[in-house]
Order: sequence, then structure tokens, then C-alpha cells
Amino acid sequence: LDNGLARTPPMGFNSWERFRCVTDCDQFPDTCISEKLYKRIADLMVSEGFVDAGYEYVNIDDCWMAKTRDENDRLIGDPERFPSGIKALADYMHSKGLKLGIYEDFGTETCGGFPGSEFYLKTDAQTFADWGIDLLKLDGCYSFTHDMPVGYPTMEHFLNETGRPMLYSCSWPAYFYPKIPDYDKISTSCNIWRNYADVQDSWDSVLGIMNFYGKNSGNFSAKGGPGHFNDPDMIIVGNYGLSYDQQRVQMAIWAIIAAPLFFSTDLATIKPESKALLLNKNVIAVSQDSLGIEGELAFSLNDVQIWIRRVKPEGSIAFAIVYTGTGGTPKLIQIQCASLGMIKKGVPYSVMEVFDGKHMGLYKATDMFNATVNPTGVFFGRATILG
Ligand code: GLA
Repeated sequence: LDNGLARTPPMGFNSWERFRCVTDCDQFPDTCISEKLYKRIADLMVSEGFVDAGYEYVNIDDCWMAKTRDENDRLIGDPERFPSGIKALADYMHSKGLKLGIYEDFGTETCGGFPGSEFYLKTDAQTFADWGIDLLKLDGCYSFTHDMPVGYPTMEHFLNETGRPMLYSCSWPAYFYPKIPDYDKISTSCNIWRNYADVQDSWDSVLGIMNFYGKNSGNFSAKGGPGHFNDPDMIIVGNYGLSYDQQRVQMAIWAIIAAPLFFSTDLATIKPESKALLLNKNVIAVSQDSLGIEGELAFSLNDVQIWIRRVKPEGSIAFAIVYTGTGGTPKLIQIQCASLGMIKKGVPYSVMEVFDGKHMGLYKATDMFNATVNPTGVFFGRATILG
């Protein structure tokens, strides 16, 4: 969507994967879906360096609403959990240099059973604009997929009509799965779009998403670019399900495929090594590369996957060598540099290990590159062309 937003993959926080639909604030005062949670995370994003690193959006997901609309058919936040109202929360975010995202659904109800936008698209777009919302994730529960190719662009129209720039996140293609949706249409109407299953707190889930992106059915990766990106779902770094190596894999691959970086974790309890991954400058630099090209799985051989993204300066690449084996010992992977994307003959590339910023030396297309990769781990490299 060409509305000036998401020129690089958007970065921020989303509550869903970690905080779900917990509405019992008596039992869970710090983690229930409430204004307190979003303010708490926002404060930590500022104080812990996340804003400086580029994270910008604080996204409310499902379960924020009251169970019914008000007397003017307008949505309202749950009065117990959002006593100050959503507009006050947006003001709070803006005062901290942050942006507020919100969640609604194209159908009659949200996935969690709260009022949907069906029949109220225009009203809801205006409500969000009046509140000062900066991003809308429009989900697709309780609706018909055949309505989506018209309905989602209709919401785009109403959002645009408000005059307030709001990043538009569509779940439309995810509901078409396993059918291939009209990605041309989607990328003209949406800034980002989910096209596969929800990420869960497990390596299986992350690997499943990687395999879906690796297959690239319908060549959706070609639709990634400034203003419009595929969304493989949230970053789950810092939670319970991934080992440290697996967290590195998620960061590397999400950076390579130019994915939105919406982390879903509690910044108050995150382990230092996970926090360092989320804040890693070199990883973020790959993610936010201004060419905005979406990388792809170049090839895989047994339990080794090679992912490549073209980055600046032109001719340079970021690459990830993922070892999906679980054999318990690191694997030595030897591969010709041309196969990692260093294809220009006779020209040296300066290779850096991305996570640590370690200089690995100069390589040419015909040289061999050796990397020892941990089980369910990754070597993440950046090869800058010299000349
Ligand atoms: C769907 C979406 C998730 C989340 C939930 C909320 O499953 O794909 O990302 O928004 O709904 O109910």
C-alpha cells in the first residue's frame, strides 16, 4: 500500500503471542490485557533502549474491547481494563515517541469473540482516527473469504478517507491458506499481511513458518518491498519455547525475509541474551535495509537451508546458513561463496558475522566458506561487495 508508511518493515511490540486474551486482572494484574500492560511495556521500550533501536509500535491485539458497542455504534475499550480510554492511551504513546496499533476483525466478531467490524467499517475507521491510532491489524475470523478481496480494500478506502495515516495490517491471505490469494491486490491495499498460521511458542512453529516461506507458493516474496511486506507473524524471542540458538534463527530469518519485527514478550522479565538479540544493531540493519528486498530460501540440502537477501550497497548480500538437524553436535558446513550469493566473479566480498559483528575476511565467488553451525542454529553473514 502506497500511503507513505512501512517503507521498511515496521518494528514494535504486539501483545498476542505472549499475553493472549487474559482478561482476569485480579489474578493477573501485570499481564492482563489492559492499559496498564501497554503502558508498562512502552515505558520499558523507552528505558531499555528499544525505541533507540528502532522499535516504534505498541500494538494492542484482541480482547481490548467492551463486549458491545456504545449507543452510537462506536467501539469502546473495556471500561474496567482501559478506564482512561483508548485515546488517552494513544496520547500516552505519542508523548513517549511511540505509536499505538489496534486490532479489529473484518467479520462479525473478532477471533476472541468481541464485536467485529462487519457493517461498521466506516464508523470504526473514523473511531480509530479520532483516537489517534497509528496501525490497524484487521483480522478475518467470522467472515467469508469471498468477501475479503472487496472488503479489505474497502477498509483501506475508509482508513484513507479519515486523513490519518494508519499502517494497515491485513490477515486476508492467511484465511485463504492453502489456496494462493491475489497477492497483487493484497500488496496494493495493505502495508503488511499475514499469510500463514499463527506463531506459537515453539521451534516447530517457527520452522513451520520458515518452511512455508521457503516454499514461497505463488512467489509472494516478490511482493515484498517498501510500503508492502509479507508478515510471517510475531518474534517470540524471550519467551519459553525457543533455545538461544533457535531465537537466533528466528531473528536471522525474519531479518532476511524483511518481516515486520513485532516482538511479543515481557520486557520486565526477558533474559539479557534475548534482549540483546532483539536489540542487535547488525540484525536490525539487515531487517531495515532500505532497498526493502525480501530475501528467500535459495536452496536446501537435507538439513541445511541457505537463505539470501540482497542488501545495500548494491551487489551485497545477507545470508543465513541454517542447520535444522537435531543430531546434538555442531555441523561443519562447507559451501562455495557463489552459492551464498557472492556471485560476481573476481570481486572480493568482505564478510561479517552479523550477530557479533566479527570480520571473517575477504572472499571471492569461487572460494569455499566454512561455518560450524549448532543444531537448530544459524550462521548469519553479511557480505559487502568491494568494487
Ligand atoms: C488470530 C490472529 C492472531 C491473533 C488472534 C486474536 O488467530 O491470527 O494473530 O490476533 O486471532 O484472537
